[in-house]
Amino acid sequence: MIIVSQYAMHHNPLYWESHSEFIPERFENYNKVKFGFKYFPFGGGKYSCVAEQFAKIMVPEVIGLTVREFDFTLPIGFKFDISASVALHPENGLELLLTKRKIS
Ligand code: HEM
Repeated sequence: MIIVSQYAMHHNPLYWESHSEFIPERFENYNKVKFGFKYFPFGGGKYSCVAEQFAKIMVPEVIGLTVREFDFTLPIGFKFDISASVALHPENGLELLLTKRKIS
């Protein structure tokens, strides 16, 4: 079995300028033909996300609504760390405090 790391590909200096910087705009106008396998958030080939189309509509909607309504902070003393295996995941889970934003 061959496993291709999405993290490694999505930060690969061969394919991305300023490869370690957070520049989400670089993924604008994403389409599979243009990007090929240098960017494959939903997997690819035989193994890919069954909900890709649903997620592309739903996830930005949910994130947009949530960040508009709430501020997110880590609880005091909580140490966030990332663990890398096939995919990245929070080493000790992720605790977040949500505070309702005051929209003036
Ligand atoms: C931004 C959101 C999402 C991303 C980036 C994502 C990405 C992925 C990836 C990379 C895989 C693994 C493909 C592989 O086996 O190599 C996967 C599998 C899967 N995803 Fe998603 N996913 C997302 C949202 C969702 C949502 C919202 C659902 C369900 C409502 C979903 C359902 C599934 C299922 C059922 C599989 C397993 C498919 C299989 O094993 O045949 N995903 N997804």
